[in-house]
Amino acid sequence: KTASCRVHRQQAISEIDPRIYGSFIEHMGRAVYTGIYEPEHGTADDQGFREDVLQAISDLNVPIVRYPGGNFVSGYDWKDGIGPKEQRPTRLDYAWFSIETNQFGINEFADWAKKAGTSGMIAVNLGTGTPQEAGYLLEYCNIAQGTTWSDLRREHGYEQPHNFKTWCLGNEMDGPWQTCAMSAEDYGKKARETAKILKWVDPSIELVACGSSSRDMPTFPEWDRIVLEACYDEVDYISLHRYYEYEGSQTDFLASFYDLNEFITTVKATADYVRAVKRSDKVMMLSLDEWNVWYRQNMDCKRWEWAPSIAEDEYTLLDALVVGGLLTTIVNNADRVKMACLAQLVNALAPIHTAPNGAVLKHTTYYPFQQVSNFARGVAYRSQLTCEQVTTKNLGSVPALTALTTFDDSTGELAHFVLNTHQDDSVDYQLNLESFGRLQLIDHQVLAGDDPFAGNTFEHPDNICPTQKPIDVQPGEQFAFELPAASWTLLRF
Ligand code: AHR
Repeated sequence: KTASCRVHRQQAISEIDPRIYGSFIEHMGRAVYTGIYEPEHGTADDQGFREDVLQAISDLNVPIVRYPGGNFVSGYDWKDGIGPKEQRPTRLDYAWFSIETNQFGINEFADWAKKAGTSGMIAVNLGTGTPQEAGYLLEYCNIAQGTTWSDLRREHGYEQPHNFKTWCLGNEMDGPWQTCAMSAEDYGKKARETAKILKWVDPSIELVACGSSSRDMPTFPEWDRIVLEACYDEVDYISLHRYYEYEGSQTDFLASFYDLNEFITTVKATADYVRAVKRSDKVMMLSLDEWNVWYRQNMDCKRWEWAPSIAEDEYTLLDALVVGGLLTTIVNNADRVKMACLAQLVNALAPIHTAPNGAVLKHTTYYPFQQVSNFARGVAYRSQLTCEQVTTKNLGSVPALTALTTFDDSTGELAHFVLNTHQDDSVDYQLNLESFGRLQLIDHQVLAGDDPFAGNTFEHPDNICPTQKPIDVQPGEQFAFELPAASWTLLRF
């Protein structure tokens, strides 16, 4: 097979907001306890944070982490997680039917985030929680001193405010599974009234309203329209959540990038419709604050365990290719998608897996995320692909390739990523970059293999990871590469 791609310097999509490479830590399964926080572990620092996990996260280069949920947040009282640890209550977590000991709360998160080199996207509880309690949390976190809640933070040993700048108004409030789910009308009003309080407390913050929790929701996209009509002026982002899993057709699964693009396109259109209705100058930005491959059939929430093994998916090469494809879609929409969170980061549906009291394992999906978050910086450019289409069951005819191109002025580096979804055919690939001048290839990595269902294990941790290819092309403006069947390629110039 053959394919070509032309990228033109005058076809910039947008500057990439680094928060597009965010991730997510929820109090879910072993994400927190025995994931990022395990005081008994050999690598734990004086606060109980696992340093081996911190290292794996800092290599991923994740600029923002959503916390503390997720479904968990809709039944969570943030006040349970502050103050002396021995006085914190043990609660039932309604979201995952787990025991929550509250040994890790908002202050521990702030400390951990600093050590991980990241920032926080904090979700407030709009299920059982009230707008007032959300306001108190923000006051506790961001007000310097002189009020009940800010002075309590200081009493707890945090003289300086945490200054979290990004806040989510609840989580998936359209989902029947959510603690205190509600109608779009009720949520829109609650989100608006909470937003007013939060922006009064700290006008420098940005707010994310809950959009539909999936493209498959029967209420999509009406939910998004109604919510935005209620709080368009008060919020800065509408959220999207989307998960994919292999259901028997590799062709369909590999085409997930196309489905995600359709979802984003519809949410943009819905937001722009509301903008027109409102006669507003403001363009609503998108926060894809949960996305990933997730095998929901693996979910088994037994009542009531502490740090249970929930959603510990063991990702395959196929899953990693899908994650690569999804990343191309996300960054190719950088003009509207300003934040995105790979859900999640450690143990629960995550690229990083820990053995309690043991080692850290990088699943296959770690690698495409690491490559894109490290190298796709600066400005995203339109990648004009000419390639064959493949026929899918659920999405019709879909391009067999998807690509992403970025150029970073600060380093002078151009990065190009391409997913070949042809399962049996390699592709002779012509890449035309002439409008960027003469370029020297400096890095060529390929993720591919004979067995799409192979993965990494503690015994064979490097079974599936990118292979470095020799740099055997001359500097130039046009390049030719062979893309192996079912492969993900990174090229840096
Ligand atoms: O990321 C796992 C869960 O998926 C989150 O808690 C929830 O928001 C979504 O349904």
